[in-house]
Amino acid sequence: MRVAHSEHVRPENYRRFEREVPAWYRDAKFGIFVHWGAYSVPAWAEPIGELGTIDAKTWFAHNPYAEWYANTIRIDGSPAQQHQQDVHGGAPYDDFLDRWTAEDFDADAVLDLFRRAGARYVVPTTKHHDGITLWDAPGTDGRNTVARGPRRDLVGEFATAARAAGLRFGVYYSGGLDWHVSDFPALDDMDFSARRPVDEAYTDYANAHLDDLVERYAPDVLWGDIEWPDAGKPAGPRSFEHVLDRFYAANPEGVVNDRFGATHWDFRTSEYQQGRDNEDDSAWENCRGVGYSFGYNQVEDASHYMDGPAAVRHLLDVVSRGGNFLLNVGPDSRGRIPELQRQCLEGVADWMELHAAAVHGTTVLDAALASAGEEPWVRWTRAGDTAHAVVDAAGEVALAADPARLDVASARLLDGTPVPARAEGDGIVVDVPAAKVPGPVVVALDLR
Ligand code: GLC
Repeated sequence: MRVAHSEHVRPENYRRFEREVPAWYRDAKFGIFVHWGAYSVPAWAEPIGELGTIDAKTWFAHNPYAEWYANTIRIDGSPAQQHQQDVHGGAPYDDFLDRWTAEDFDADAVLDLFRRAGARYVVPTTKHHDGITLWDAPGTDGRNTVARGPRRDLVGEFATAARAAGLRFGVYYSGGLDWHVSDFPALDDMDFSARRPVDEAYTDYANAHLDDLVERYAPDVLWGDIEWPDAGKPAGPRSFEHVLDRFYAANPEGVVNDRFGATHWDFRTSEYQQGRDNEDDSAWENCRGVGYSFGYNQVEDASHYMDGPAAVRHLLDVVSRGGNFLLNVGPDSRGRIPELQRQCLEGVADWMELHAAAVHGTTVLDAALASAGEEPWVRWTRAGDTAHAVVDAAGEVALAADPARLDVASARLLDGTPVPARAEGDGIVVDVPAAKVPGPVVVALDLR
């Protein structure tokens, strides 16, 4: 979630951070988000649908985001509150921190799966809205995963494993909400302005966290959420400017998302159906879970989850429009990737093994050359002088593509196998062979 986009005006003191978006980020196209926390112990939410399609009051009382559990159980009369009573005897939320064992978590194995799926970067949560940090962050007074629960520096394990697997490493940090440092009523509406910490003490606390993350792990992505505390925005000793100075000094190729409010960003974000107006000509990234939650939700089943081909179509839809896709995984409390999420990633991995050339490093194909379709589903990407038609169908398919600009004689699969194609009217008809792996088929055509 992010604040309304009208607030997104870059103030004077942040102009000096404007820069070209580094090529690695533009070319990466695909990253994996990881939401893992004490909330992965109850792992419970109502899978009511996608953010951006449900009215606010319904959303919060029946919040499908399992990572919001600590808030949802505080909403009187909510089914989550009832669940907490029935199943956990109304225990305090922090008991879940001690019950979070992470005993089966193997960062190298997890990162290997992400790498095979074609992800070029990974962004784990380092502090979500519940305020629990996944490293021994300054000032947390033992309320972190090193002192309790897993008793491990999980941020460090992700960082090391990501780099060993050849992926870039980012940190998600909730600066806007921290339910531990503040004592506001539960959030039950989209307007958080009066219910988030904005004061100097919290600003210093959050600044110290980001400084520590930068110093220890030199992240490639600073992925803020909700907002930045207001006392940390203007120029001055508490300014977020200092965080950015350190971040870019430690990692000149670093990128920052747009959820630090009216400060600075390198790329904009959308989440499920929310913020779709950010998907424009600038750098942007869409994120969503495999199902309707970021944190693991045991209530969800196959009817809520994307399978491999659905995730591939989502990825290609985003990439064909110039964005990156940050697909979220929510491990369980032992650190395992839940089976249906694993199957989704394995499906993406099988597809990417044959088709990564239509994803990584590609650009948007000019709409004058070819356009997307829904029946059958078709998306386009461009790599140099090659156009890729990504087609979710087999047999003869009429493409909305200009035969004067795309060479029908060059039509082929990515392994070079020729594909029969002909000009027909002002379009192109291709005879798409059956898919070798579940998901769309890619037909490459030379531009002329
Ligand atoms: C939202 C939600 C959250 C999730 C995130 C991912 O702001 O509050 O639970 O972490 O976005 O984009």
